[in-house]
Order: sequence, then C-alpha cells, then structure tokens
Amino acid sequence: MTQSNQAHTNGTGSSGVFQLFRERLSRDAMYGVASYWDARAGARSGMARSLWPSNAFNVLWDERQRAIVGRVLGDLTGHRVADVGCGTGRITRWLAEERGARHVLGIDFSQATVEAARNESAALVSSGLVRFEQGDVVAGLGSVGAVGFDDAIVLGCLSVACSDRPSLERAMLHVAKLVRRGGRVLVLEPIHRSPLLRRVLDLGLEEWIAAANRAGLELVAADRMGFVPVRLVFSVRDLPGAIVGPIFRAGERLLDAAPWLYALSDYKLLMFTRSSRPIEDASGPASVP
Ligand SMILES: C[S@@+](CC[C@H](N)C(=O)[O-])C[C@H]1O[C@@H](n2cnc3c(N)ncnc32)[C@H](O)[C@@H]1O
Repeated sequence: MTQSNQAHTNGTGSSGVFQLFRERLSRDAMYGVASYWDARAGARSGMARSLWPSNAFNVLWDERQRAIVGRVLGDLTGHRVADVGCGTGRITRWLAEERGARHVLGIDFSQATVEAARNESAALVSSGLVRFEQGDVVAGLGSVGAVGFDDAIVLGCLSVACSDRPSLERAMLHVAKLVRRGGRVLVLEPIHRSPLLRRVLDLGLEEWIAAANRAGLELVAADRMGFVPVRLVFSVRDLPGAIVGPIFRAGERLLDAAPWLYALSDYKLLMFTRSSRPIEDASGPASVP
C-alpha cells in the first residue's frame, strides 16, 4: 500500500473526535482527491460516506438541508436538474422522487461513490429518471456531456474540491455552464474565514459571490443552516436521535430567529440565476452555449 493510499484508508470509517482532528490536519491534501472519497465509500455506511461520521446526526442534517433547499427551489415539476458532487445520491433521489424533477443527473469524481449511488438508486436509474456520471467539477465537466439544465445544485462539494480562488472560479464556471440562460445554481457550502471553522478553502462569502459573478451568475437569494456549536459536538459521535434531535432543531430555530447569529451558521446557501452576459473563462472569454 502506498503512503497516500494508507493515509486515505486511515482517514475513513472512524467516528472519533481525535480521528476527525487528524483528518483536519491533512485535509488540504486529502479531501480534493478522489481516492479519499473512494475509500470512504467502502469504509463507512449510510450517509456517513458523504456526510458526517454520525449517522444519527446525518438524519437531522439531511432533513434540515431538504427543508431549506426545497423552500428556496420551490416546485421542480418538469425540471432537469444536475446535482454536482452528489455523493451517494441522497439529494439526487429526493429531487426525482419528491420534488417532481423530470430528470436528475448526479455527478461525482469518485468512481466508488458513483457506483454506490447507482446501486442505491437502481429503480430510478433503470427508469431513466436519474443518472449518475463520473466528472470532476474543477477539471471540467465536458466528459459528462450535459448542458441546458434548469437547475444545478452543489451541496458541500466546492468547499472540498477547490483549494484556492482560481480553482473555485473554474469550478463555478463549470457548474454555470451546466444550466441554461435564466437557469438557477444553488450552492450550500461551509463558508468561513475563521481559523476554527474554515475548511480547505480560505475564502469569505464575498469572494464566493464574486467567483459566481465572474461565471455569469447573479445572486438572487441567501440563507444559512447548521448551528455551529451543535454541529461541532454532535456530528462525530452516534448518540440517540431522541437526545440529538431536540438540541439540533433548537439550534436551527435559533439561527432562523436571530439574524445576528449569522457567524454561527456552518453552511451558507447561495442561490444564483445564470444571466445572459458572456461567461469569462480563465483562458479567455467564452460564449454561453
Ligand atoms: C461532503 S460530500 C457531499 C456529498 C453530497 N453533495 C451530499 O451532500 O450528500 C462531497 C462530495 O464531493 C465529491 N467531490 C469532491 N471533489 C470533487 C470534484 N473535484 N468533482 C466532483 N466531485 C467532487 C466527493 O467525492 C464527495 O462525494
């Protein structure tokens, strides 16, 4: 086993706080690499393959994300939707099964994760309602061969896929190119600059919005979720849902009720529409397809 493979193996499957902190120390080199997510797809179970170590916490996180994303996106009847960095497909399936989307394409750069998503969505895939493809949002999604979507959503992917401003700008451009003019791009990501909370990407909200603007996207709505103290304590250890549930929901109600607690929200939701002006590519101006 090579050293880098060993690091990926060691960095998965544990629900310990210590393990999580060890992962954090090397995350810059780890989270942006497909083999890390491949290993995680095999070493963990359920939503912990794509979310937090505690599946009891993930149930609550998933419920809250669906509520907030559903509220902002509204009715998707007849829409074609792309789910970028789809993980094992929890949101891809939900968009197709419960939100009325006509077709949903899940894209992820981890082959093992894509295979797990296909296996878990066998009926939806064979009916043609859902498709999963391997694609890298930073390198480019040309190989996926898909454009003209009504909506694209990105949940917790860009913040691990991108390591700096240029890579975020490239990734935003690739997501923007998936949707038609007037189509929407919804991003729900941990966006922080504080040393305690910041992820791989050390950029603030304004810089995320600027990267989206450069990709021809205009901000139309914003929201937030994930009350940080609760997320930090309960996402790593499986405690009974009867204990975590009321605490988690109280934290989220607090965030909704107190706008001044904004800095204590882990995830920021940004909803954009694709304008008709040309998209600027790093390699020169490119026309909207
Ligand atoms: C934190 S998980 C979130 C998964 C899913 N969106 C969800 O919320 O359940 C991040 C996902 O992004 C994927 N990912 C990371 N970098 C990527 C890249 N450059 N291109 C495509 N997918 C990527 C990982 O494989 C992983 O499945």
